[in-house]
Amino acid sequence: MPAGAPPKPVFVLNGPNLNLLGTREPDIYGSATLDDIRAACEAHAAAAGLALDFRQTNIEGVLVDWLQEARDKARAVVLNAAAYTHTSVALHDAIKALPIPVIEVHLSNPAAREPFRHVSLIAPVVKGSISGFGQTSYILAIEAARRLTGAG
Ligand code: DQA
Repeated sequence: MPAGAPPKPVFVLNGPNLNLLGTREPDIYGSATLDDIRAACEAHAAAAGLALDFRQTNIEGVLVDWLQEARDKARAVVLNAAAYTHTSVALHDAIKALPIPVIEVHLSNPAAREPFRHVSLIAPVVKGSISGFGQTSYILAIEAARRLTGAG
């Protein structure tokens, strides 16, 4: 990093329907809204001296754009690709092209759910995956990003 440049943030990228958290299948995803999760992530990151850039989109191509943007602008990516986890070759390819660590995260444990959720097309190209701990999955992923990149 050039002298005087601000430290790069961790991108926390969220895919489709995660904007509905809080009201969407709370028995599976819990009652926290995405804003609650963002606040918990920002509090954890601030305590660790880490900057976050937290975003959500319902559009697959926007996630691809953000992953490409991360190449120069992020130190690591925490990605909840939501349903695109199970379908997206485009996300697989975008992650494969990135030189920084990408950590796959899920609130629920997809392996314990319907068979179509048992396949993750991004799992082979991420650094690692954290699933099943609700919003704590995000905190653990941010902590992994911090340790992997020597930040904070
Ligand atoms: C999810 C799991 C996916 O299977 C699902 O499509 C989601 C959320 C999770 O965080 O548990 O939308 O990624």
